[in-house]
Amino acid sequence: MSCQSHNATAPSPAIAPGCGDLDTSAIAAAIGSRGIDSRISTLIPGFDAPFFQAGLAGYSDAAMRLVARRHGCPMCVTEALLDRTLLAGGRGFDKADLGDLHDNVPGGPDDHPLCVQIMGSEPREMAAAAVKLIEQRQRSDREYRLLALTNDEPSSRPIQHLRDPGGRQVGPWPPSDGFSDEERRFAAAMEMTARRPGGTAGFQCIDVNLACPVKKIEKKARGGHWLAEPRGAIAILEAVREAVPKEIPCTVKLRRSFDDTPEMAENFERIFASLSSIGYAWATVHARTVQQKYIGPSRWDFLRDLVRRYPNNIIFGSGDVWSVHEIFRMIHYTGVHAVSVARGCIGNPWIFRQAREMMAGRLPSSPTIAEQRAAMLMHFDISLAVTRRFRHGEEATSRMMRKFGIKFAQHHPKGDEIRKRMIDVSSAEAWRGILDEYYGA
Ligand SMILES: Cc1cc2nc3c(=O)[nH]c(=O)nc-3n(C[C@H](O)[C@H](O)[C@H](O)COP(=O)(O)O)c2cc1C
Repeated sequence: MSCQSHNATAPSPAIAPGCGDLDTSAIAAAIGSRGIDSRISTLIPGFDAPFFQAGLAGYSDAAMRLVARRHGCPMCVTEALLDRTLLAGGRGFDKADLGDLHDNVPGGPDDHPLCVQIMGSEPREMAAAAVKLIEQRQRSDREYRLLALTNDEPSSRPIQHLRDPGGRQVGPWPPSDGFSDEERRFAAAMEMTARRPGGTAGFQCIDVNLACPVKKIEKKARGGHWLAEPRGAIAILEAVREAVPKEIPCTVKLRRSFDDTPEMAENFERIFASLSSIGYAWATVHARTVQQKYIGPSRWDFLRDLVRRYPNNIIFGSGDVWSVHEIFRMIHYTGVHAVSVARGCIGNPWIFRQAREMMAGRLPSSPTIAEQRAAMLMHFDISLAVTRRFRHGEEATSRMMRKFGIKFAQHHPKGDEIRKRMIDVSSAEAWRGILDEYYGA
């Protein structure tokens, strides 16, 4: 689960000079009356408010998403799924593996709209993985692997679909020396997919991860490392967009740069400038560098500058959103079209309810003890129901829920005591026992 943060710092304010004194109530009410940018709700019906639950490896599974939605969250993103794991049907790749595939299947009819995030090192593997997600396994695993041409040496193939930032195709497509048999099959399959009427069974959107600070494997870039290799990043973006049916939006998650050198800033610019011509609906920009991982402040001033320089792009912001007030501060200060709520919503689904309350001109209400109990029971029960369908038993689910319990405890006056108790939870009975003891039976 390499996207996870083992080194995150405690909540701290973002770099946003002059942002401290903003009147978030007035800002929220104004946003409430104008609503979300209509381009967004047209692309993804149901995405009706300018915030959403971020991809969070190890957290944002179907259970967390459903709890968030029941508290007013209008849209969710899955954690990053590795293309190779998807193509292999979820097996293997131990250390290279990210999210657990089973935790990311759509959690029933209520778990929409849902954006699935993919990450990988080879344009064709990424394209085939995206097709597989959209089709929801209409073909055999073998067919999807064939689409990705995993039998040959992918890294020795030239990049096929390259375009420059102005949209001009600069890569050799179709290749001047003709197609190989495999390439012909690939092209035919992709074309067939593109013509298929939009059967959006599970996911309404494909999000390409160019942000995760996960280490390279076998010297191959993936996630945020692509920000140091713009040509490859653009090839991946191209390949995925070309493979996915036109009616399904493709989006991208990036960091503000790989690091703070001028060279990397230029790389970001090159990738970002290419997005609309390739056909990406929006970009979520995490305003930390890849090198920063999750340490130190995010730079909202960078987001503000980016929004000003790309007035026609839809841009979402991420980084240092710890409470409902930061949702509205970020929108007002930076001009982003929506805010990605990440660590600020772990064990805190009320942030979404509070955002809706503020948009309706009301004060944000803190969760009562009874509401905390209800949400914690709901989260545990859904988690158990979802994971039982697959492979986890009650004990594994209970252990997994400890990290949520610890976060939920922050809302309780006896939070420190509850946190200590949560550490030992290994059964549904123990979870409910803590609820009965501290949250009323
Ligand atoms: C534990 C953890 C897991 C994450 N996993 C993902 C992921 O799978 N996909 C993704 O796009 N971002 C992931 N992120 C990044 C967050 O979505 C977000 O961009 C980042 O935490 C900055 O926002 P924050 O400072 O408000 O938490 C993860 C972050 C954390 C802390």
